[in-house]
Amino acid sequence: MPPLAPLSFGDKAYWESRFTDNPEHFDWLVPAPVLLSSIQSALSSSSAQSPEILHIGCGTSELSFHLRNLVSKPMHVSNVDFSLAALQTGNAKEEKIHPSSDPEQHMKWMSLDLLSHQDVVSFRRNTDLYDVIVDKSTSDAISCAEYVTITLPYPITASDIQQAAQKNVDTARVHPMAVLLNNLAYLAKPNAKWLVLSYSSSRFAFMSLKNSEASVIESIEGLEFTDPRLFWRIANVETIDAPEEHQSSHVVGRPAIKLYLYILERTSVEAKIHAGYGQAKLSEKWTGEVAVMADTDLA
Ligand SMILES: C[S@@+](CC[C@H](N)C(=O)[O-])C[C@H]1O[C@@H](n2cnc3c(N)ncnc32)[C@H](O)[C@@H]1O
Repeated sequence: MPPLAPLSFGDKAYWESRFTDNPEHFDWLVPAPVLLSSIQSALSSSSAQSPEILHIGCGTSELSFHLRNLVSKPMHVSNVDFSLAALQTGNAKEEKIHPSSDPEQHMKWMSLDLLSHQDVVSFRRNTDLYDVIVDKSTSDAISCAEYVTITLPYPITASDIQQAAQKNVDTARVHPMAVLLNNLAYLAKPNAKWLVLSYSSSRFAFMSLKNSEASVIESIEGLEFTDPRLFWRIANVETIDAPEEHQSSHVVGRPAIKLYLYILERTSVEAKIHAGYGQAKLSEKWTGEVAVMADTDLA
């Protein structure tokens, strides 16, 4: 029998086991405060009176607890992840540090597989659209995921612009970043900002029109799948030096580790559900919130 493939950063089982075995907080790439001024600027640029933050792949990062202080009420922060263990840790910690019977004083902790259109469609029926999306190394993990098997036409689509389908197929395997961009487009307001901290200088190289040969774009070619570049544009890219304590102190002359902060901006192209997507599927009940919300939030 061939050996089993090792689990990767894109696998739910990997994260569930990691967060179950290590429930203490852990921050990837940088400590949470490094991102706060950029998140604050994104919030200030929003026209919403009480901007809504979607923190994707929150894991057990301290960032959730910093975001809590940047909004008018904690309920305006939605922490999502596909690991229930991570969400339960975060929810329990908030209950302990900030006990309150007022649901507005709690952040939301919700289970969501960002690569599942079913999850995203049902999730949206329970939430507002978001003004700011915060992503600390979650796109990095998702880039390691297997290509996603999708049904065609893809249920989340641009309202008017239909990608010309040259391939007459019902299913296809698509790069996970293409799926992520289109799924998040369905959850974001026009002009919403998506802040992505990544270790990769080429995480969004496919966004450049000159780079249409990138594997992300190649994977959707000829399919009834909206080109994600219609939904998002790169507004800014900054480099950040990883703080000293995240670099090895035993290596002499090692160059500073560079990280990349991408700011993507949602265009005004509407993301809607494809007309062929069944009504029955649209009314399927979403259960993600129930698993992790405080009792008070369920009343
Ligand atoms: C590299 S960790 C970053 C965690 C946290 N943002 C931090 O900075 O410490 C990636 C996170 O993305 C989550 N994740 C990966 N793929 C996901 C998916 N398809 N849907 C939802 N969450 C996912 C993992 O569970 C994990 O919490």
